[in-house]
Amino acid sequence: MEKILVTGGAGFIGSNFIYHMLEAHDDVEIVCVDCLSYAGNLVTLEPLLENPRFKFVKADITDREAMYALFESENFDIVVNFAAESHVDRSIDSPEAFLMTNIIGTGVLLDAFRKYGNGKRFHQVSTDEVYGDLPLDRPDLFFTEETPLHTSSPYSTSKASADLLCLAYYRTYKVPVTISRCSNNYGRYQYPEKLIPLMISRALNDENVPVYGKGENVRDWLFVLDHCKAIDLIIHKGKVGEVYNIGGHNERANIDVVKTVLAALGKPESLIEFVTDRPGHDLRYAIDASKLERELGWVPETKFDDGIKETVNWYLDNQKWWKDIISGDYVKLSEELLGKIS
Ligand code: NAD
Ligand code: DAU
Repeated sequence: MEKILVTGGAGFIGSNFIYHMLEAHDDVEIVCVDCLSYAGNLVTLEPLLENPRFKFVKADITDREAMYALFESENFDIVVNFAAESHVDRSIDSPEAFLMTNIIGTGVLLDAFRKYGNGKRFHQVSTDEVYGDLPLDRPDLFFTEETPLHTSSPYSTSKASADLLCLAYYRTYKVPVTISRCSNNYGRYQYPEKLIPLMISRALNDENVPVYGKGENVRDWLFVLDHCKAIDLIIHKGKVGEVYNIGGHNERANIDVVKTVLAALGKPESLIEFVTDRPGHDLRYAIDASKLERELGWVPETKFDDGIKETVNWYLDNQKWWKDIISGDYVKLSEELLGKIS
């Protein structure tokens, strides 16, 4: 058995990764550590709570004592660090939690890995936002792994700091680190504060959908399962000390994404409301993922039109999941589930 620690597994990408890994590999055991911040929801993982190859531990990655005790007792082969404060707008309103979790938390995990791990790999889940942004009028430009770090928001700055810490631990202490920098994900279990699930949930309630500025900003959308498969490849076949970009080859202006979502829901474009722009709003992200394709054979499998249909259908079929988040009931439901397993 291969024992993998997944931090932040009660959030969007981490939970999708856990489901993917348990389905794709019979010889994998997962321990999920998550502090259940506002973005963590144990309901997402409920179907796994009695699975003998899965264990949930409620803990904060900034808690050094708790992390050391966990690493000492569990002997992880691989650590995949998803745990983060992840929403750019929240980082603009209140940066401190981003510095604590994204920088200090990553440092604590690296120290725990070094001190107790005989682990094969420490994988840091990073973001394309560490490269800053690209101009809208230069479609020929893309982020490569060599693009200098040039961040805009407290969120992206905290993620870039964590990347540098990982690379420093590789160089100085030989911690076997890999880093992946991914573009915008979409799919099931995404908290309805991010663009696509926010648009779906508001449109289904016939509420206005807020588009920042003129909706011209461009993001490169990747179906979450394609991201999970890329990480699976990198942790098993990637080279230590390396950074890998992950992207969807799928650039879209925000306004077009919003119109696609409204059309899929059969809702009118009159719901669109242009609102004040995000301060420091990055113009365009576009990933060159050719290193990952060339070296590990990864390509994104899901076309945007198919992925969006699947995602919209999931939110239609699972309205209780996101309505419990909007009402706040998910906090109580998570606590009840926690009571059952502890
Ligand atoms: P998310 O906000 O949905 O989930 C984050 C999870 O981390 C939550 O379950 C939360 O409870 C947990 N967490 C937060 N602080 C913690 C702490 N101190 N200790 C333990 N757990 C903590 O985030 P996501 O969208 O799933 O993103 C996961 C990772 O992927 C992040 O590192 C993010 O930077 C990165 N990323 C996200 C995207 C995207 O489009 N969502 C794209 C590229 C990279
Ligand atoms: O690129 C990867 C990043 O993608 C991740 O590192 C982040 O964790 C993730 O949150 C995401 O960041 P963005 O800021 O790109 O995602 P968000 O869903 O917040 O916004 C997508 C775009 O839509 C962005 O240009 C801002 C715009 N937007 C967003 C919201 C919430 C709107 O126009 N209206 C909105 O209400």
